Amino acid sequence: MITNPHLFRPLTLRGLTLKNRIVVSPMCQYSATEGLAEDWHLVHLGSRAVGGAGLVITEAAAVSRDGRITPGCLGIWADEHAEPLARIVRFLKSQGAATGIQLAHAGRKASTTAPWKGGKPILAGEADAWTPVAPSAIPFTPAHTVPQQIDFAGIGKLRDEFRRAARRAVKAGFDLIEIHAAHGYLLHSFYSPLSNHRKDEYGGTLENRCRLVVHVATDLRAVVPDGMPLFVRISSTDWVEGGWDLAQSIALAKKLREVGVDVIDCSSGGAVSDANVPVAPLYQVPFAEAIRRDAGIATAAVGMIREPAEAEGIIADGKADLVLMAREFLRSPYWPITAAKALGVQPKVPDQYGRAFS
Ligand SMILES: Cc1cc2nc3c(=O)[nH]c(=O)nc-3n(C[C@H](O)[C@H](O)[C@H](O)COP(=O)(O)O)c2cc1C
Repeated sequence: MITNPHLFRPLTLRGLTLKNRIVVSPMCQYSATEGLAEDWHLVHLGSRAVGGAGLVITEAAAVSRDGRITPGCLGIWADEHAEPLARIVRFLKSQGAATGIQLAHAGRKASTTAPWKGGKPILAGEADAWTPVAPSAIPFTPAHTVPQQIDFAGIGKLRDEFRRAARRAVKAGFDLIEIHAAHGYLLHSFYSPLSNHRKDEYGGTLENRCRLVVHVATDLRAVVPDGMPLFVRISSTDWVEGGWDLAQSIALAKKLREVGVDVIDCSSGGAVSDANVPVAPLYQVPFAEAIRRDAGIATAAVGMIREPAEAEGIIADGKADLVLMAREFLRSPYWPITAAKALGVQPKVPDQYGRAFS
């Protein structure tokens, strides 16, 4: 038994205090209609808040209709998206969870079907198809639609869409925003040399490739309240020789820290379809550890974290400040309650469920 486990110690980020270090990682549900959150989203996110997560982050919410991955993706591109999200926020907070929203643009990976419908590109001419945008006109795979290269006007519009989405997120009551700049989606596709072949100020050098994500982070810092933490999820490596790597991630993290980002959420991969990713328990934790140490910024670890003792070790050993879990939370919505028991902490159980955990 551990005395006062680190996993259950609060963490203060700007004006927000999280009750523990356990976070529900963003998970697309492909269950929205025209981007609107539905009962499914309330129950999906709500049950993990009932289960004791310190922070619940929504799935990728598209900042524009064309920024969705699939037609069923959540969105926040119009004012009408705010109220259904606010309903969810109210419930999550009533359960003591902090609330985050992940703002996203799918870039060249947009216009596909949901995984259970094959996860295939929806091609021009098919119902629900749209043309994706990207830094360069290079498709994600030969089977994907060739994206339209985004021009300067398009970049300006995109920055504006992120700003508007952030304002709506604040209005909906979210405690924090996570910018999705990982997994091969638009912002990652700009900083990865594998997908960005531009010759202008957004391509070529590391500084140029990072320009867009740094601008978006700067923009959002300016429109959200000072007390609101800002997270950025990055792919710490492309797992490809000559692609994006940890050293570049550390440089980007330093830049993001300077413009007021509070936490780097350290994921990896997704830039190309044929990378060799050595997936194994805790395989991305070393990125969170290195970025935390070398960029001097708080980090979140994610990826195949399942065991309470392992999650505790990540925080206790100073490898990350937060632990994010996705699939384990799908299997065990009440994971924090059972983890607390396993680590010797008296779990906080909703009164309604008290008899199940006594
Ligand atoms: C169903 C599902 C949907 C996901 N959707 C998102 C998403 O919207 N945004 C994101 O950044 N990552 C997404 N991910 C990735 C997870 O957040 C997480 O990084 C990944 O699953 C590794 O963590 P795990 O091993 O705990 O599942 C998704 C994963 C799953 C399983």
